[in-house]
Amino acid sequence: MGTLVRVVRAVQLVAAVATAAFVILLFTNEPQKPAAVPKAGPDTGQAIFVTRCASCHGADGGGGFGPTLAGVVVSRYPNPADQEAVVANGRGSMPSFAGSLTPAQITAVVAYTRTNLG
Ligand code: HEC
Repeated sequence: MGTLVRVVRAVQLVAAVATAAFVILLFTNEPQKPAAVPKAGPDTGQAIFVTRCASCHGADGGGGFGPTLAGVVVSRYPNPADQEAVVANGRGSMPSFAGSLTPAQITAVVAYTRTNLG
């Protein structure tokens, strides 16, 4: 085998290893979780409920994938702070909103479910 062939083989091997490393890095550099939804957004409790909660709890709070909220949250959570904690921290299949809603937005949407959903 000539020297030139050996050099070409070596270059091919290096190129193959570099390609493999590039592909691996491409995948391992994927962000681990989706970027948080920007905190700026609708600020009224109703707008937040419609965009962030209604898909699971129903437009009228009557439930769906998530439990009924309308008419039950006030007796279930006499202290609104306890209800806000569920929304902020999540529970079971209920997602956490602490990363995507400000505390003021959580307060607003919780107030909406307590006073406007019947
Ligand atoms: C992906 C679906 C989903 C979304 C979106 C969602 N929820 Fe939930 N939610 C659930 C599920 C499921 C539960 C029941 C959790 C459990 O297992 O205890 C729940 C529980 C709750 C509870 C506690 C109810 C109870 O009876 O104790 C409250 C309050 C609540 N959600 C409010 C909200 C609010 C406010 C939003 C919007 C900011 C929201 N949820 C968005 C699915 C969702």
